Amino acid sequence: MKILITGAAGQLGKELSIYLNSQQKLEVFAFGKENLNIINFSLVDDLVQKIRPDVIIHSAAYTKVDQAEIDKDTAYEVNAYGTRNICVAAEKVSAKLIYISTDYVFDGTSSIAYNEFDRTNPINVYGKSKKAGEDIVQSLVSRYFIVRTSWVYGFYGNNFVNTMLNLAKEKDEIKVVNDQHGAPTYTLDLARFIYTLLKTELYGIYHATNSGYCSWFEFANTIFSITNTNTKILPCSTEDFPRPASRPKYSVLDHMSIRLNNFEDLRHWKDALKDYLKIKK
Ligand SMILES: NC(=O)c1ccc[n+]([C@@H]2O[C@H](COP(=O)([O-])OP(=O)(O)OC[C@H]3O[C@@H](n4cnc5c(N)ncnc54)[C@H](OP(=O)(O)O)[C@@H]3O)[C@@H](O)[C@H]2O)c1
Repeated sequence: MKILITGAAGQLGKELSIYLNSQQKLEVFAFGKENLNIINFSLVDDLVQKIRPDVIIHSAAYTKVDQAEIDKDTAYEVNAYGTRNICVAAEKVSAKLIYISTDYVFDGTSSIAYNEFDRTNPINVYGKSKKAGEDIVQSLVSRYFIVRTSWVYGFYGNNFVNTMLNLAKEKDEIKVVNDQHGAPTYTLDLARFIYTLLKTELYGIYHATNSGYCSWFEFANTIFSITNTNTKILPCSTEDFPRPASRPKYSVLDHMSIRLNNFEDLRHWKDALKDYLKIKK
């Protein structure tokens, strides 16, 4: 099976490339932005025609959530039209497409976990542009998986876990938001799930995060408790920490599609975090 990965230099793309390369009977073609800029239609089209992958995992995205508020055109250029380019090319070679999407397609006003069939209503430019990408996938591709995830961390990028551990080296006290809830997700667990999914024909939208949920404050506390870090964490509210882009207050994702299609659920976020921090040492 030939698999093409976009955004392969990113946090998830790199994990996917390494994990899938270690599997038997897979030929992995992994491209970062330097080799495959997805906004270039003919480049995408030519490369996909040449490789003729069975599966495309589209992990490339404009992911700077705050910057997107002032750089709207680029966010849509990459997340909507870049995705269009991937979709057109995938469809021409009848490849399955896996589009990585986000919990930020929801507005976060619910107090119960969102399932795959709940109404989306993104509240920032990043979320809106990723939702535009989802709509394009659904209108242009016959065989697709949309995999929504959240609060991603792993070995290959900037993320909350690394930020907290770095801040702890410099500060005795850190304020962390306690009124936004979501599910931390370890890239390796997500890569394993995507591998299981891509071998099937059980197409559709999937919510794939580690199980359970927490606030950023609880997430930070757990990171420090596992690593025996003494820096004090003080809870604060979203209003205490103003950012250019609004964030959903509650973006916990119910894994209804995983359940109904009899896939094994991803493990609890605390177990995943413990494993990650053990290997990271
Ligand atoms: N991180 C999270 O918490 C999170 C949560 C939910 C969903 N997601 C989704 O998960 C996927 C992977 O995210 P990630 O955490 O791995 O983010 P990431 O580390 O920022 O990876 C995205 C990659 O896409 C690349 N890219 C940007 N513009 C491109 C273009 N025009 N052509 C080709 N590549 C381009 C980026 O390159 P440059 O950095 O050089 O621009 C980066 O290497 C994305 O679809 C994201 O929307 C992430």
